[in-house]
Amino acid sequence: MGYSQHQARVGEKIPLVGKMLLAAILAAIAGLMFGLDIGVISGALGFIAKEFHAGDVAQEWIVSSMMFGAAVGAVFAGQLSYRFGRKKALVLSAFLFMFGALLSVVAQGITALIIARALLGLAIGIASFVAPLYISEVADEQHRGSLISVYQLMITLGILLAFVSDAIFSYYGAWRWMLGIVALPGAVFMFGSLFLPDSPRWLMLRGRRNEALETLTSLRPSREEAEKEIWEIQNRLQEKQRGLSLFLENPNFRRSVFLGIGLQIVQQLTGINVVMYYAPRIFEVAGFGQDGQMWGTAIVGLVNMLATFIAISFVDRWGRRPMLFAGFSIMAVGMGALAVLLSYGAGSSSIMHYLAVAVLLLFITGFAFSAGPLIWILCAEVQPLEGRDFGVTCSTFTNWIANMAVGATFLTLLGSFGASHTFWLYAALNVLFIAFTLLFVPETRGVSLEAIEQRLNSGARLREIGR
Ligand code: BGC
Repeated sequence: MGYSQHQARVGEKIPLVGKMLLAAILAAIAGLMFGLDIGVISGALGFIAKEFHAGDVAQEWIVSSMMFGAAVGAVFAGQLSYRFGRKKALVLSAFLFMFGALLSVVAQGITALIIARALLGLAIGIASFVAPLYISEVADEQHRGSLISVYQLMITLGILLAFVSDAIFSYYGAWRWMLGIVALPGAVFMFGSLFLPDSPRWLMLRGRRNEALETLTSLRPSREEAEKEIWEIQNRLQEKQRGLSLFLENPNFRRSVFLGIGLQIVQQLTGINVVMYYAPRIFEVAGFGQDGQMWGTAIVGLVNMLATFIAISFVDRWGRRPMLFAGFSIMAVGMGALAVLLSYGAGSSSIMHYLAVAVLLLFITGFAFSAGPLIWILCAEVQPLEGRDFGVTCSTFTNWIANMAVGATFLTLLGSFGASHTFWLYAALNVLFIAFTLLFVPETRGVSLEAIEQRLNSGARLREIGR
């Protein structure tokens, strides 16, 4: 039995070591940028459409070019973070982020804007790959879930800030300000990430054992613990990081890669980004005026952030599976209720009007305490160390492709099936995801990454590779 498993078993609580927390929070600022970029477009889109005379399809492109860039970024992130380290990859992503933001401020037409958003996407793709990976590598297993949830919290904070700043700038129609203001946190992030310690697991991967030990010692309560963890990592490191070749020859690795891919498809098909990108439009369908749309959207952002605290507090106590069950059920009810309301004409009376808001918030709450953080946590946890970069690349890439598919089809779905049927579709998908969780999702709470890997390699069923 590994040392860390033993610890988990006797239930000792390791105090959060300041530096580990700091490293995780700094990495989580990458999440802030991620969120700012997701959130900022919903409020700016209407103004951009007016200024550049952009139709539905051009708007869908402006929204989804970022996701396309992010998918590409996620693919390169694996190589980048393996060769140069997680930390340098984060610095590069912050730089690209600032550059893309400034470029979108000066864009003179739809094409320029699409290019600027694709660049921003590139930055976010790298960050969304590296940050959770980095956090999972510096955290100990008792706090891993909570710390990756902090990353998700930063995403939601970014979305909220973007929604609020959109609402404020909307009074002036200042969409360039909406898009440009995000360069500021980009600068903070770039500066902050220069001070991050390198990931001890990455240092070990590169054969820099002494540095790994020094770093880990500064992240754990004692040198003795750090030494034991280094020993465990070393045991797992007999072979070098591999990707495609491992995927082709090792069926167990293929299973964890497909699990990561499946999890990310599930996260996006909950319909979360339909709400994130088009919230003002949904509020419009429900009968709200311009002010109501902007501030309603800001409230969605606020609830999204607040409900993430539920995950942070309970994910390492209640476990991943129960929270996912609860989340998908709540999301199915929320989407279903929205579909019913819209079929009766949500804008027809003020009660319907507010009911529509209430069920939308219910849906957001369900997502924010479950699939939002948990999918990122699980994707970082289930991959074996030898193929972790490749595995997380595949799942992160999938997140963005699925994200793009959802973003690029919503207006078209609304146009061809109508609002009510579109939301019924998402309700049904959420019901399906309860079954997915039941069949495939392991309970990884309190289990060390090394133990998860051992069980995966022993051929145990996916849902049993955790506890
Ligand atoms: C998802 C994003 C989503 C965000 C909302 C993240 O976990 O990956 O696509 O926009 O949560 O909070």
